Order: sequence, then structure tokens, then C-alpha cells
Amino acid sequence: MKELEEIFLKAKKDLEETKIFQDLSTFYVNYLGKTGKVTELMKKVKDLPNEEKRTFGQTVNKIKQDLQSLMEEREKEFAKQKILNKINKTKDLDLTVPSSCPHGSLHPISIIQNEVIDIFLSMGFTVEDGNEIETEYNNFEAVNVPKNHPARDMQDTFYLDNGQVLKTHTSAAQNRIMRKYGAPLKAIFPGRCFRNEELDASHENTFFQIEGMMIDKDVSVANLIYFMKEMLTHVFKKEINVRLRPGFFPFVEPGFELDISCPYCDGKGCRVCKHGGWIELCPCGMIHPNVLRMGGIDPDKCQGFAFGLGFSRLAMMTYDITEIRLLNSGNIKALSQAGIK
Ligand code: PHE
Repeated sequence: MKELEEIFLKAKKDLEETKIFQDLSTFYVNYLGKTGKVTELMKKVKDLPNEEKRTFGQTVNKIKQDLQSLMEEREKEFAKQKILNKINKTKDLDLTVPSSCPHGSLHPISIIQNEVIDIFLSMGFTVEDGNEIETEYNNFEAVNVPKNHPARDMQDTFYLDNGQVLKTHTSAAQNRIMRKYGAPLKAIFPGRCFRNEELDASHENTFFQIEGMMIDKDVSVANLIYFMKEMLTHVFKKEINVRLRPGFFPFVEPGFELDISCPYCDGKGCRVCKHGGWIELCPCGMIHPNVLRMGGIDPDKCQGFAFGLGFSRLAMMTYDITEIRLLNSGNIKALSQAGIK
């Protein structure tokens, strides 16, 4: 027992004398490591007569634990000292100098997407995720665009070697969502879309849409108009009028182009609306019975509306961005404008 006490006192002293972090590993090897003094003592316990085993064992154990926690404390002291040294070295540190590092901001597309999602969530819609790589079936056939249909031409896209496509529109998720939930359903699904486009200031090969779909008994165009107006009023923070013009899309019947009264001049005519007072915003319509059927929903029992809002366009309008290609450019100067507004 005397030997134990001596070892403990010596260990404590050694620990106090450690000067740098690295000295702690020498200490550990000397006392607590595989062949350390304390470990060697532990090994001796089994050779002792039974009556000594207990007290001796307990004491060694206690010494081991004490040394371990003393070592941890010392470790903390070294870490603290390291920070203090660093601070002392930077004598001229002035915490009141304004940071020269610019603040980040959300991408205009993310801002608009979050806004639209929030509004639809508050109206009871769920938000779904769509794939960027889709089967040809989901992208075309399931939305009533069979092979060789001329409508495929307008949405020429990038085909992968395995026959799948980069989705040309968020409508590609319609079938999967109908099969997942059945009717009734209210869902929106934002996503990145791709088309083989001639690029110019308002056409990009990669752009963003947000699709909305509501299916239930007795859903009509009136519901469609209501939800679109609600959403637009929230996005533009003022009452927005809408009008529907006939538009053809194989997956809706009847199909429409939804125009909004120009939010900049309130319909009086300005540069943004090309002096017409209206801006074409979003194709939509009542979901075609074939599409419902392919989604496993009986068109005699339920109807639905769908819309495909291109929100690259919405972001450009909201933040006065005149060139669609800026949205994918990573040009901080242009894109951070949105965050400032
Ligand atoms: N998917 C169509 C497009 O991208 C838009 C659309 C969606 C039209 C839903 C009608 C209904 O062109």
C-alpha cells in the first residue's frame, strides 16, 4: 500500500510538471498505458492472497480514476491556454470593426419557391418532391402525350442512354403522386426542368416550375381561379386579377393560359407588360380524363385541376431580372439583389 501511495504522489507531481500538451502522452504511457505503472499494479492483484485482493484492487482502481480525471483537467487547461496565447498574439484585434465579409442571401428562385410553398401549405396542400431524371412514360405517356405526338416536339429534351429523360415539366410527377395518394388530393411539386431550347434572354435549358394539382369531387375551374388568385395576391402583396385564355396541352381539357393583370402598372400598360396590361403567367386546366385514369382515379367520380407555374419567370418579374440566364449563372452581383429587397 505504501508503494501505491508513492506512485500516486509521484504521478501527481509529474502531471503538474507537464509543460506542453505533448507531455501528457508521455505521462499516459508512464502510468496508465498498457505497460504503465498503474496498469502493472492492476495486473498484480490476481497474485495477491485473497484477503488483500479487495482493498488493494479498490485502491489501485481509485488511483487510476483519479489520475485519469486529473489528466483530463490538465488537458483542458492546455486547450484554454492555447486560445489565450492566440488572443494575446493578435494584439491589434478590434472586435468592433465591421466585417468585410459580405452576407449571403438566398437565390431569387429559392425565395420565390419558399414563398409559393408557404402559401399553398397554408391552404392545405402537401409538398411533393419530383425526380429530375424521369421515365419517358411518366414524362410523356402518363400525361397523355403518346409516342409520335407532335406535342413532344415542343418539349424536346435530353435523353439518357437508358432511355430515361431529364424531365421537361413538373407534370412528370402527376402520375406517381396520383398513384401514391389517390383522390382526394391537393399537392404542389416544385422542381428543376430541362429542355433542348434555343437560348436567349428568356429561354434557358434549365428552369424551374411549380406544379399544383387538386383532385376531388366537384372540382371546377372556379377552384383553380380561386387558388391562383390567392397565391398571386400573396406573392405580389396586392390584389391581382387573372384571366383565362384557351390553351392547348394534351393533359388538360379544357386547357388555359392564365394571364395576370400587370402588377407594376395595375393593368394600365408599361414596359413590363409590353403596354398590354396583362402578363402571360401560367398554363393550367382541368386534368384530362385519360390522365386521371392512368393515375388510377375514376374520372366519372372525381375531377381535378392542374397548373404549371414557371417560377423562373416569376422570379425575374419580382426582382426585375431581365436575363433568364443570370438565374443559373452564379453571378453574385446580380443574384444578391433579390436578397436585399
Ligand atoms: N406541363 C406544362 C408545361 O410545362 C404546363 C401545364 C401544367 C399545363 C399543368 C397545364 C397543366 O408546358
